[in-house]
Amino acid sequence: MKLHFEPLHPDFGAVATGLDLRQPLTPEQVRAVDDGMNTHGLLLCRGPVLSPDQQMAFTRSFGPLDLGFRRVKNAPGSAQPHRFEYDELADISNLDSSGQVAARNSRKIVSNIANQMWHADSSFQRPRAKYSMLHAVTLPSSGGATEFADERNAYDRLDKATQARLAPLVAEHFALHSRLALGDTDYTEAQMAAIPPARWPLVQTHSGSGRKHLYIGAHTRAIDGMVVAEARMLLWDLLEHTTHPDRVYSHAWQIGDLLIWDNRCMLHRGRAYDLGERRELRRSTTLDAESEHRFLPEEALQTA
Ligand code: OGA
Ligand code: MN
Repeated sequence: MKLHFEPLHPDFGAVATGLDLRQPLTPEQVRAVDDGMNTHGLLLCRGPVLSPDQQMAFTRSFGPLDLGFRRVKNAPGSAQPHRFEYDELADISNLDSSGQVAARNSRKIVSNIANQMWHADSSFQRPRAKYSMLHAVTLPSSGGATEFADERNAYDRLDKATQARLAPLVAEHFALHSRLALGDTDYTEAQMAAIPPARWPLVQTHSGSGRKHLYIGAHTRAIDGMVVAEARMLLWDLLEHTTHPDRVYSHAWQIGDLLIWDNRCMLHRGRAYDLGERRELRRSTTLDAESEHRFLPEEALQTA
């Protein structure tokens, strides 16, 4: 069956049909998904709930897997045993390691709430993340949507003078920045050091589409050569511009949904829900291998 795309939102995103996520993909199917991702930035696939094995096998067709924030959780001093057999399968839930709703004052709940800030997964590391694949297993009775905004469209909507002003800027992304902002400050030195900050140009060219885009979000804490207050205000202004409600797609989940988004050019956030009700999603993520050597600060500055 041929892959088919229908728009999700007027500006970006598509529903993809014609793919059985439980079956191995042919190289043509992988290419068709990549093409769809490069155009739409966000794909929705609907179907039955996948086993962790099936989700991991599907994700692996698109490249090496990202460990992301689990590197902090695996650092000495963390008391968060993982619920899954795969370290690379992120437990995006409000459940503790025994599968019960986690205590309100636990770090698991802080992690879950941190996802409610606009962000790009693993922007805090080099190489960074490319595709996130988030799969719905258990849903609360209301709330808990996931929202998306396209940083390519956001760049296009900036005036020329602002585009020129942003072009030479390099931002620093730090894994714990969003947690610290939420008052979760009690990290060990080993946890603080588990993921050193990464620096990325504020404006980049998306290699899949050739379009320019912003690269911002909750992990961004500073801009090279700029006073912190000025940098943070600029970053907040850009975030507000990017996530204007008219330009956001809000996904109301159904069990079995798999959403795939391109972290290189899309921002996302979870929305609030009753933390006493179970909400369970599983995320597998690929690495943006080329980002290991692309966008080094020297290169960013030279092209400015
Ligand atoms: C994620 C994430 C938001 C949500 O899985 O990376 O940010 O709605 N999820 O759970
Ligand atoms: Mn996320």
